Amino acid sequence: MLKKMIKKQNKDITPIVLGTVDSTNSVAKAAAVEGAPEGTVIIANRQTAGRGRLGRSFVSKSGGVYMSLVLRPDISPADTLFITVAAAVAAARAIEAVSNQKCEIKWVNDIYINDKKVCGILTEGEINADGTLNFAVLGVGINLFKPQGGFPSNLPLASSVFNKKGIFLNKNVQKSKIIAEFCKNFFNFYKNLKKKDVIKEYQSRSFLTNKQITYTKNGKTQSAVVLGIDDNANLIVKGEGDTEILSHGEIQIVGMEQPAV
Ligand code: BTN
Repeated sequence: MLKKMIKKQNKDITPIVLGTVDSTNSVAKAAAVEGAPEGTVIIANRQTAGRGRLGRSFVSKSGGVYMSLVLRPDISPADTLFITVAAAVAAARAIEAVSNQKCEIKWVNDIYINDKKVCGILTEGEINADGTLNFAVLGVGINLFKPQGGFPSNLPLASSVFNKKGIFLNKNVQKSKIIAEFCKNFFNFYKNLKKKDVIKEYQSRSFLTNKQITYTKNGKTQSAVVLGIDDNANLIVKGEGDTEILSHGEIQIVGMEQPAV
């Protein structure tokens, strides 16, 4: 049913719809190893071991969209960051298309609505012996509906796109639309990934710009204000000294509850 609905809206992808899996990224990786072509999209209703960045877990109860795309890009492993960048903009657009709510991107890979996280992105790759990229798996988790019992209390910043109860006669309508819309936008950016055009919209959706943060570099925690994001998707921050460029790592927003997983 969901598969047919997605296929009807986006003929370029091959959706594989599953019930409960450990992680759609793991399923997609196994499929990629077996030769699954680009455009294969693994979708699950629930994950028992959903994972996020930095070894964290991603709560994946029924009510969310959990999907992983098999990609075979001709780019260097370092450029896979731009897969995440394109996915973040595509996810923001897809969520806005179904919900009409403004989405911002919290560097690097989270989508926020009204200061709360509704979506996370995890790109993983397999590197060949010669250092080239064999394939990549792009995982996207969208908290579409509020899960039964709500989000765990240790995730104060987690929220869902739709929070009201009982107004959704057929959740598959929203699910199929968001998946089809995401894939349409993502593959459009992906075709021209090397041009990095998508960075403009990524920059303009930045949730962190002008926020006061703390970050740790070379073992030292420092305070800074975020000036923006550069054309290579690095965070530009200004502390007491010179402007700094952060290419990875974790930042904390001053005055906001942490963490948002
Ligand atoms: C993060 O918040 O750090 C990223 C979360 C990514 C979650 C998605 S859900 C689909 C795919 N499967 C996983 O195990 N993780 C990603």
